[in-house]
Amino acid sequence: MVAGLKRIGILTGGGDCPGLNAVIRGVAKAAMSGGLEVVGIEDGYLGLIENRMRDLTRLDVSGILTRGGTILGSCNKANPAKYSLPDGAGGWTVRDVRDQVVRNYALAGLDAVVVIGGDGTMSGAAELAARGLNIVGVPKTIDNDLCSTEITFGHDTAVATAADALDKVHTTASSHHRVMVVELMGRYAGWLALHAGVATGADVILIPEIPFHVDKVADYCVKRSRGGRGFTIISVGEGAAPAGHDRFVDRVIDNSPDPIRLGGVGKFVAENVEKLTGLDSRVSVLGHIQRGGTPTAHDRLLATRFAYHAYELLTAGRFGRLVVQRDGKIDSVPLDQVANKVRTVPLDYPLIAAARAFGTCFGE
Ligand code: F6P
Repeated sequence: MVAGLKRIGILTGGGDCPGLNAVIRGVAKAAMSGGLEVVGIEDGYLGLIENRMRDLTRLDVSGILTRGGTILGSCNKANPAKYSLPDGAGGWTVRDVRDQVVRNYALAGLDAVVVIGGDGTMSGAAELAARGLNIVGVPKTIDNDLCSTEITFGHDTAVATAADALDKVHTTASSHHRVMVVELMGRYAGWLALHAGVATGADVILIPEIPFHVDKVADYCVKRSRGGRGFTIISVGEGAAPAGHDRFVDRVIDNSPDPIRLGGVGKFVAENVEKLTGLDSRVSVLGHIQRGGTPTAHDRLLATRFAYHAYELLTAGRFGRLVVQRDGKIDSVPLDQVANKVRTVPLDYPLIAAARAFGTCFGE
C-alpha cells in the first residue's frame, strides 16, 4: 500500500448507466477490506464543489451490485472548470471553481478519489489531477464512445434493452405490414444502434459514422415489401444524419458544459419513408429506458473487474490514470489521453462488413 493512503472518495459523474453501483461496491469493499476509509461524494463534481460527502459503511455498499443508477447520485452539469451559476437576472454565469474543489478535497481529508464517468467527467478529472488531486478514473457510458478502452460498462445492458425493443416492434411491424423505426441513444457514435440492430437482425441500421440517403432507405423498404416481406425494422442512432444534413438537435441545455441533446432523426426517417413509398411507417424513441434497469451479468463482471483494478492503482499510488480494457485485458492509460475525444465506430469494424454481407441496409 502506498504510504499515506487512508481515506478515499468515490464519485459518479455524467449520465447514469447500469453498473455504476457495481463499481462503487467493488472499490468500496476492496478499500474497506484493505483498511481504508471510504467517502461517498454526492451528485458527481457537485459534491466536491458544494462539500456534500458522507462516510460509507459496508452496509451502504451491500446489496447494490444488481441495482441500476447510482446510490451517490450524479450530475452532468457540474464541470469545476466551467461551473454554471444563476446570474440573478434569469441567465447563467460561468465560474472556475477548481480551487474550491481542491480545498474541499483537503478539508474532507481525502487522499485520493475514484471518479466514475464518461468523457466529460474524465476531462474534469484530468484537470483536477493536474492541480494535484490523486485521481483514478473508471469509464462508464451506455454509448461505448470513450477513447482508449474497447468497452465501457453499461453498454451491454443498454444493447440488451434496445434489442428487446427492436424485437418487440416486430409484432406490430408484421401485423400491420409497417416500417417501424426505433431511435436509440449513443450521441455521436453508433455502437448502440449497430450492436442492437445486428443482434436483432434489423433490416436497416443508420449510424452517425455512415451518412445515409433516405431515398435509398425507402427503395430498400419497397424492395422488401415487393419481395414478400411485408415489413421493415429500422434501428437508428440519435446521431445519424442524412448526407449533407446536420445532426438532429432536440434541445440545447444552456447551463450544461455539453449542451446539445440529440433527437428527431427517427421521426425524419419514418415521415420521409412513408412519403416516398406510401408504406405505413411509425417511430418509437426509446430514450432513457436504455439507461435504466439492472445491469446484465456481463456489465456486473466488467464493472467489478474495473473496480478491482481501480483499487490496485490506488494502493500502488498510480494516480492520474483511467482503467481501460484493451485486447480483452484490464489495464490503464493516463487520464489526459481520453479527455475530450470520442471513439466512433470504425468503418472497417467487422460487424459492419458482416451485416452488409447479410443484406442489411446502411442507407448508403
Ligand atoms: O451519454 C449518455 C446519454 O444517454 C446519450 O446517449 C444521450 O444522448 C445523453 O446521454 C442524454 O442526456 P440527458 O440524460 O441529459 O438527456
